[in-house]
Amino acid sequence: MKILVTGGLGFIGSHTVVELQNKGFEVVIIDDLSNSSEKVLDGIVAITGTKPTFEKFDLKEKSKVQDFFKRHSNIAGVIHFAASKAVGESVEKPLLYYENNIGTLVYLLQELSAMQKANFIFSSSCTVYGQADIMPITENAPVKEAESPYGNTKQMGEEIIRDTCKVVPALNAIALRYFNPMGAHPSAEIGELPIGVPQNLVPFITQAGVGLREQLSVFGGDYPTPDGTCIRDYIHVVDLAKAHVVALERLIGGNNSANYEVFNVGTGTGSSVLEAIKSFERVSGKKLNYKIVDRRPGDITTAYADTTKANTVLGWKAESTLDEAMKSAWDWEQKIRN
Ligand code: WQD
Repeated sequence: MKILVTGGLGFIGSHTVVELQNKGFEVVIIDDLSNSSEKVLDGIVAITGTKPTFEKFDLKEKSKVQDFFKRHSNIAGVIHFAASKAVGESVEKPLLYYENNIGTLVYLLQELSAMQKANFIFSSSCTVYGQADIMPITENAPVKEAESPYGNTKQMGEEIIRDTCKVVPALNAIALRYFNPMGAHPSAEIGELPIGVPQNLVPFITQAGVGLREQLSVFGGDYPTPDGTCIRDYIHVVDLAKAHVVALERLIGGNNSANYEVFNVGTGTGSSVLEAIKSFERVSGKKLNYKIVDRRPGDITTAYADTTKANTVLGWKAESTLDEAMKSAWDWEQKIRN
């Protein structure tokens, strides 16, 4: 069965391509290489021995999207990662985010709506919850006012898919609300390749570990949490990738209970920034140079998932511990720096 993975050369996309190939799927990747590199294909081949088909184009070019589906009429499913995802950049350039994240989604859904049966997995985010009132966060927690245009594109994306599924019974979709992805494939053949100074915690930690960054700034030590730093649900990217395959198989097998479903994808455990630092120090044996500074505007205090629905309905559960995920991130960082 042929699966389209948009953004399949990106961080989460490439790990999902590996898990799809491990399950025997044929994979076609569309990527515009705006935030990835064709070298990632070599990493995928190094792990699975199979080179996915790769087409380089921008999904904002509607005619190219239409042409793609004419040439690939036997697509059994689509996993849609391709999107801009830098929260800060989205505040400065909202239209770039609405055009790229919403426009491309609409073009894809237009093609899928014309198919006999379409299976669609959407990359959503726990960011839709904002600062949830109750922990752990269930899928019934209210979607709150988005803190950024990026977060808004995830909320709008879910609504667009939901509304389309209502009028296109042949379209089956699952939105996966990721918590905080981290780490890298244990082979260290693929991993995160942040461009410039990492915005996210874990790549900054590992870059500080290899001496690329002088000191980690811990954004805020006065939050209402046990150690004063923010709490997040850090999930190994391989566990996250596997959740996509399980979700896709659910739709292909017709086991979904509605043609639009939503699942949280996290570990169900919250870890603070200081606990993430201690994890790095345990797995690397190195002392991390960090300083507690002012809070970062827009950060929420705490977010970790209630994973009951994914565990019981989807039949998926995260397997890696924080230390295992951190070790994989550290191994990857050392590999790419050597
Ligand atoms: C985690 C914690 C920071 C960097 C973001 C997006 C979210 C999703 C995942 C796409 C926070 C602290 C960070 C640093 C720090 N992305 N931190 N020093 O903000 O939870 O989520 O990435 O879907 O949409 O919002 O992740 O890794 O940026 O921050 O202290 O140098 O680490 O304050 O508490 P975040 P993050």
